[in-house]
Amino acid sequence: MKKKPKASQKAPRIPIKTKDAPIRLAIIGTGGMANAHAIEFLKTPGVRIVAVCDVNEQRASEFAAKHGGKAAVFTDVAKLLREAEVDAVANVTPDAFHAPISLQVLAAGKHILCEKPLATNYPDAKRMALAAKKAGVVNMVNFSYRNAPAIQKASQLVSEGKLGDIVHVEANYLQSWLVSNAWGDWKTTPAWLWRLSTKHGSKGVLGDVGVHIIDFATLPVGPIKSLNARLKTFTELKGKRRREYPLDANDSALIQVEFANGALGVIHTTRWATGYHNSLHLHVHGTKGALRLDLDRSHDELEVCLGADVHKAAWKTIKAPKTPNIYQRFITAIRTGEQGQPDFARGAEIQKALDACFDSECTRSTVKL
Ligand SMILES: NC(=O)c1ccc[n+]([C@@H]2O[C@H](COP(=O)([O-])OP(=O)(O)OC[C@H]3O[C@@H](n4cnc5c(N)ncnc54)[C@H](O)[C@@H]3O)[C@@H](O)[C@H]2O)c1
Repeated sequence: MKKKPKASQKAPRIPIKTKDAPIRLAIIGTGGMANAHAIEFLKTPGVRIVAVCDVNEQRASEFAAKHGGKAAVFTDVAKLLREAEVDAVANVTPDAFHAPISLQVLAAGKHILCEKPLATNYPDAKRMALAAKKAGVVNMVNFSYRNAPAIQKASQLVSEGKLGDIVHVEANYLQSWLVSNAWGDWKTTPAWLWRLSTKHGSKGVLGDVGVHIIDFATLPVGPIKSLNARLKTFTELKGKRRREYPLDANDSALIQVEFANGALGVIHTTRWATGYHNSLHLHVHGTKGALRLDLDRSHDELEVCLGADVHKAAWKTIKAPKTPNIYQRFITAIRTGEQGQPDFARGAEIQKALDACFDSECTRSTVKL
């Protein structure tokens, strides 16, 4: 006779909210990015922001007022989880708080959308992925550039074999806020200063936007097998500090990768890309064709070089169908009970690649994943 599985071995079930039931959301961390969460969630039918939390009470109160004025204001996460009746939480705190706060939220059995990077190291990210699985709730990490329909179309073309075997990949994420004043003065803005300080949990440009470009490249091409990274904090900043922030986090990263499918790639990111504010590019070359994406040009279109065009190096623009954004996918996952992507397990996989970059920089060697 077959043994019955113990309760603890059963796969946990994601609680389902019906189509009509309201979803009560809390937003933790009410700084810059939280506005995007509030705006997008409030566009989604049935979602109500019932609580907000920030260590800065005034900021939390102003945020609550700005986004409908009905949310209860907290300055302590544990108190919010004890007192507010919520179904789901968006964790939009700085990177260092993603792990401790998300683990609290998961222990309380709430669905969670956590900002990227999932954690500041792989062991924490793995712990979060395991806790999420155990809790049986919807868990997603905000790799927001997946919202671009073009990357979804690119993944489809690669998985259908339209490009043949993938051989060569180039991906970059370019910013210039250390040079340009377009996003304000980083020297006096806490939201930029914590991103430059390892003491404040930052993993530099690699942890801040390198996560996006690693996710962006590996979504169509597949996992990384090994990598070799160079990280640099340019001397102009090295060793200096602004207020309580030592400016020691990397601000440029170059990564040579070998993918599990054998393709080679170059992934790079910097905050010193003069001339670019916030640009993502991906080029994928295969034995039968190629594709390229430039999100400055379009989120909905990509260029392909396929078939006879390969011989002429001619590119055609194709339109990608509309795809739901992560906020919509998160709510759909809560309503349907089907885990959405990218989940915490994916966030942990990317975190493993980030840790490997730091290992590679320290040892000046190739690191296997
Ligand atoms: N997915 C994306 O495209 C994207 C874009 C921008 C930022 N982000 C991420 O969003 C997060 C927040 O970034 P931001 O630019 O909004 O930063 P921010 O500094 O503007 O805001 C962070 C807020 O969290 C609050 N906070 C800090 N510790 C807290 C705690 N323990 N409990 C509650 N609140 C706390 C701060 O007071 C601040 O108001 C970061 O992890 C960042 O990487 C993601």
